[in-house]
Amino acid sequence: MSEALPRGRFIAFEGGEGAGKSTQALKLAEALRARSIKVDVTREPGGTPGAEAIRSLLLDPPGKDSSNGWSLKAEALLFAAARADHVEHRIIPALESGTWVICDRFIDSSRAYQGGAGGLGDQAILDLHQFGSDGLRPDLTILLDVGADQLGQRLIERDGGEADAIGGRSAAYHQKVAARFSMLAQSNPQGFTVIDGSGSPDEVHEAVMMAINATLGVEKR
Ligand code: TMP
Repeated sequence: MSEALPRGRFIAFEGGEGAGKSTQALKLAEALRARSIKVDVTREPGGTPGAEAIRSLLLDPPGKDSSNGWSLKAEALLFAAARADHVEHRIIPALESGTWVICDRFIDSSRAYQGGAGGLGDQAILDLHQFGSDGLRPDLTILLDVGADQLGQRLIERDGGEADAIGGRSAAYHQKVAARFSMLAQSNPQGFTVIDGSGSPDEVHEAVMMAINATLGVEKR
C-alpha cells in the first residue's frame, strides 16, 4: 500500500517593491529543486487565469483617470478574491500533492498595504482572508528588508520610474507599508523571518537558505 505524500511547505516572500522578492523566490526554487524537492513558484496578485485577470484590474484600474480607480474597500475585496481563487485552484492542490509552494507576496501584503497604509485595519483584512481562503497562512514568511532610498534606486533601474496604480502611490503610503510589515513580523516571530535585502542577490540568497534550513530543515531531507 502506498503511503500518503507529506504535505508540501508553503513559503511567502514579502516586502516593498524592489526588495528582490521575485529574484529570491526563483533562487530558492532552484536550490530546493537541487535537493529533489518539487516546487511551484507563483505570485500575488495572480497565479491563476482568474487571479491574473484581477491583477490587471487592480494594477491598471478601469476609469483611473476620471475616478481615481478602485475604492479602498473594493481594492481589498479584489485582492481577497484573487487570493481565494489562487489558494483553491493552485496553492492547496500543490501542497496536497507534496509540492512546495513559493509565493511572491501573500496575505501579509494585504495586511500591510490595504490594512495598514490603506487604513482598513488588520481585522477587516483577516476577516476577508478567513472567508475567502480559510485563513491559510504560509509555513514561513520571509520579509526582505531594504531601506527606502535603496528601494527607490532599484525601482528606477527596474521600471525606469514607471509604476503601476499601487506602486506609484506616495512615499508616505509606502513608508506606512514598510512600518506595517515590520510590525507584523515583530508580532509573529515564529511565522516570519526578517532578512536584510540590501546585499547582492547571492548574499541575500545565502541568508534565505540559512533561514529555511533553520525553520523547515531542508538539509535533513
Ligand atoms: P508586485 O509589484 O509585487 O507584483 O505587486 C503588485 C502590487 O500590488 C504592489 O504594489 C503591491 C500590491 N499588493 C497589494 O497592495 N496588496 C496585496 O495583497 C498584494 C498581493 C499586492
